[in-house]
Amino acid sequence: MCGIVGYVGSGEASARALGVVMSGLARLEYRGYDSAGVALVTADRERVAVAKKAGKLVNLAKALAEDPLPDATAAIGHTRWATHGAPTDANAHPHLAAGGRIAIIHNGIIENYAKLRAELTRDGVIFASETDTEVAGHWLAREVDTGLSLTDAMLSTARALEGAFTFLAVDAREPHTVVGARRNSPLVVGLGDGENFLGSDVVAFIEHTRVALELDQDEVVEITPDGVTVFDRTGAVVVREPYEVTWDASAAERGGFATFMDKEIHDQPAAVADTLRGRIDEHGKLQLDGGYIDDRVLNSVDKIVVVACGTASYAGLVARYAIEHWCRIPVEVELAHEFRYRDPVVGVRTLVVAISQSGETMDTIMAVRHAQQQGANVIAIVNVQGSTIAREADAVLYTRAGPEIAVASTKAFLAQITAAFLLGIFLAELRGNKFPDEISALLAELDEIPAKVQRVLDTSQPIRDLAHSMANERTVLFLGRHVGYPVALEGALKLKELAYIHAEGFAAGELKHGPIALVEEGQPVFIILPSPNGRHSLHSKVISNVQEVRARGARTFVIAEEGDTEAADYAEQVFYVPASPVLMAPLLKVVPLQIFALELASAKGFDVDQPRNLAKSVTVE
Ligand code: M6R
Repeated sequence: MCGIVGYVGSGEASARALGVVMSGLARLEYRGYDSAGVALVTADRERVAVAKKAGKLVNLAKALAEDPLPDATAAIGHTRWATHGAPTDANAHPHLAAGGRIAIIHNGIIENYAKLRAELTRDGVIFASETDTEVAGHWLAREVDTGLSLTDAMLSTARALEGAFTFLAVDAREPHTVVGARRNSPLVVGLGDGENFLGSDVVAFIEHTRVALELDQDEVVEITPDGVTVFDRTGAVVVREPYEVTWDASAAERGGFATFMDKEIHDQPAAVADTLRGRIDEHGKLQLDGGYIDDRVLNSVDKIVVVACGTASYAGLVARYAIEHWCRIPVEVELAHEFRYRDPVVGVRTLVVAISQSGETMDTIMAVRHAQQQGANVIAIVNVQGSTIAREADAVLYTRAGPEIAVASTKAFLAQITAAFLLGIFLAELRGNKFPDEISALLAELDEIPAKVQRVLDTSQPIRDLAHSMANERTVLFLGRHVGYPVALEGALKLKELAYIHAEGFAAGELKHGPIALVEEGQPVFIILPSPNGRHSLHSKVISNVQEVRARGARTFVIAEEGDTEAADYAEQVFYVPASPVLMAPLLKVVPLQIFALELASAKGFDVDQPRNLAKSVTVE
């Protein structure tokens, strides 16, 4: 939630410190945009220089243009998704302590902040904000006052705090140092030449260096111009191996598109192709990206539980149909926040699959930990390299979608489904549910998906036009059956989060059990029509559902397969996608719905990359 950047330069004060931090914040703004702020340190001052403003980063940039800050040797910057305290200037980070000598920024929630605040208040501390962060700042200052260095004070402060946090802090008396700490929230180090960086995500510094280093739970890091030192919670130095980020700055740019979301929708053929590339070796074995679960364990699995939130959970719902069909293992899909607190029945024969784009969703992290405590093995399907879920799971399969910056998830969804299919295909072969030629056929079918997604994109003008004509709609319904059901859910979620329109996705068969009462004259209903081909096709059943809503005055918009000769008879408009195997159809049929939401929100003049009230990764429970 909140984005964090830190920078320490080559020793001389310069404008680069502010420049690096502001451009990092621009790239991290997807994480939260309730306020933004920076703190700069210069060698000859007793106080750090701070600027902060409620609202998007542009407000801060304007304030800095009107009232410039001095050149600096080190800087920290923050973009906020509000938890404690309204999104005001006062609650914006950085927060100051020690009379303005120390500045701190924070991502996360400090659970024992009320107790610590009461103790500090008794000691005479006056608070300037309602945030939990300021408590940590004053606590840190109190430790520094005892004669500790900023780094030692951070170690001791981190031990006093409960909850989730990433902190960065600077002290005017240590102008060549930025100190960070992390527990349950991300923090990555960027290694430069005579300068070093810190960020919530590598995008914060990718334009300056691709060499990164990850921190583990409860570690503290000190960066100076010449070095990076990592400490464990006892203060002992730990050695971490740097790694090279596999994509470059251009992947985190809009690349000629008006919005990141549009660009990311167009990245989808590559996201699927890259996720598939080189995954199955000549022995039919799935190439994981890290960790290991023994084949004997995978063979003994009697239940799979997918834990995820939001769009990632809908990817899990799609995967359920495929994995159950291919592997004959029962698959449950559970929202991670519900799973964690209902005492779920999991054990050593349960395989938990955690799906997350960011790998930092706190609800999913807690579900993973809970599952592991019960003895389950966890495979993570994650997009962000080195993220918490990827590191804590027993094995990880990365979706290679590249950075997803728009808050609404698109290419990650397709990549998650693809990776989950790979897992299903691998388990089917391992457990003897499919013969090698059947496995090859499935993989060949998946290989055709990127080109088909490209065709959907190339023929998307009609759905874009429809979206512009529907900017004044107040409610839109989505119906789907079987794998079309999660597509309906995802279509509705996209419309809610981007266009702020009431939208509901229903299982088409459920319609007559209640939701059909919503349908009145002129109500737009999107229907995901299954393929008419195949012995068990549900096509005619869904056509009946279309007729049921049409009979009650609905305007019907159908997503159908090319070659479906009946669809047009029941729809005001049909949007065709290439034919595909039934289980793989969501990878194609969701794309027009993503585009519909994008265009409708744009038509209403909304910011599609940063919808209101949202943040890209939800790092608080
Ligand atoms: O990073 P994650 O995949 O764990 O995030 C899960 C959800 O928060 C995310 O998919 C959310 O629903 C998106 N805003 C949907 O577009």
